[in-house]
Formats: sequence, C-alpha cells, structure tokens
Amino acid sequence: QLYPLFAILAAYLVGSLAFAVLVSRVMGLSDPRTFGSKNPGATNVLRSGSKPAAAITLLLDALKGMVPVLLVKFFGAPYGMEEGTMAAVGLAAFVGHLWPVFFHFKGGKGVATFIGVVFGINVWLGLATGLTWIIIAVFFRYSSLASLVAAVFAPVYYLLGDRAAWYADARVALALAVMAMMLWYRHRENIARLLKGKESRLGASKKGA
Ligand code: G3P
Repeated sequence: QLYPLFAILAAYLVGSLAFAVLVSRVMGLSDPRTFGSKNPGATNVLRSGSKPAAAITLLLDALKGMVPVLLVKFFGAPYGMEEGTMAAVGLAAFVGHLWPVFFHFKGGKGVATFIGVVFGINVWLGLATGLTWIIIAVFFRYSSLASLVAAVFAPVYYLLGDRAAWYADARVALALAVMAMMLWYRHRENIARLLKGKESRLGASKKGA
C-alpha cells in the first residue's frame, strides 16, 4: 500500500508551503511573522494593508488543502485510495500548514487550509462552513471567533448530512474533528484575547494583535 503513503506525504509537503510568507515575499510586503499576531495566515497578511495579498494567501492556502483531497477523491480509486486516504490526505495538508517542514515547523492556524479540505470533501459542506465563518465575521468582526465557530460546525454539518449523504464516512468525520481540535489549540492566544476583549477586529490594521 505505497500509493496512500505517497499521497499523504505529498499532501504534507504541499501543506507545508506557507503561502502567507511566500505571497508577501513575492509582493514585496513585510513578513507576516514579524507584525500583528505574527501568524503566517491571510488574516495577518490583511493587517499589512494589502487586500489582494490577503485574498491570494487565502486562496492558495485553501487550494493546498482542497486539491490533494480532490485528487484522491477523483483519481484515487484505481490506486486503492478511498475515503480513508482522502481523510488522511486532508489531515496531512492541514498538519503541513501547522507544522511546515520548509519553515522550521512554525506554521499557521489552519483556517484557510481547513476550509479548503472541507470544500474538497463536499462542496455543500464547504459552503455551509464558509457561510458560518462569514456570518460570524460580519456580526462580530473577529476573524478568530469566526474560525473557531466554523471549525466546530464543520464536523457537525458533516454528521448531520450523514444519514442522507452518500459520501459520509466515520474516518472523514474523525479527520474533521481532529482538525477542529488542532485549530482550537492553535487559537489559544486568540481565545485568551477574545475572553479579555483584547482581540483585534477585522478592519483594524498592523498594530493590533
Ligand atoms: O487565520 C487565523 C485567524 O483565525 C486568526 O488569525 O492573525 O488574528 O491570529 P490572527
């Protein structure tokens, strides 16, 4: 069973591409690890003031989660790769983003990659999760809070769709739950700031944490 192992390793390597850092470098912006929350993610790139750079980061960080999942989903079967591998590949891309081999294992918080994986698993699940993020972000203006809530709801939505949907699989549900837990763990400083009312709101720039 070498194909699934190769797929998982490849997904981890792709996930390790910290696009917040790479996009900022290419676009001549400051390294997101040096300002704001110091997180290499789209939210923090936005604090540099460049909306296009933030949007490109968001898109690429999401694609690196979505593309490996879709490749396994559509082309994996002849190589013995089914839902279990799809779940593992999504998790591997996500883990790559959190602990990237190319960036001294210091990665981001996983939100964009998580959403990408979720879209890859099922487009409706992705839309429901993305919409949850947008609703919380619009009402509360906290990117972190929106991410935390969306992460909890993704596995719930998946399980709710379980009875009706052909794609439901316990390994996929487990991978989603594990990613949600890691995402929460990665947001522990944000959670502390939210509780203290000190989290920076969307729209505030550079100086905010
Ligand atoms: O993308 C991560 C987001 O949920 C929070 O980012 O930079 O505010 O810690 P940040």
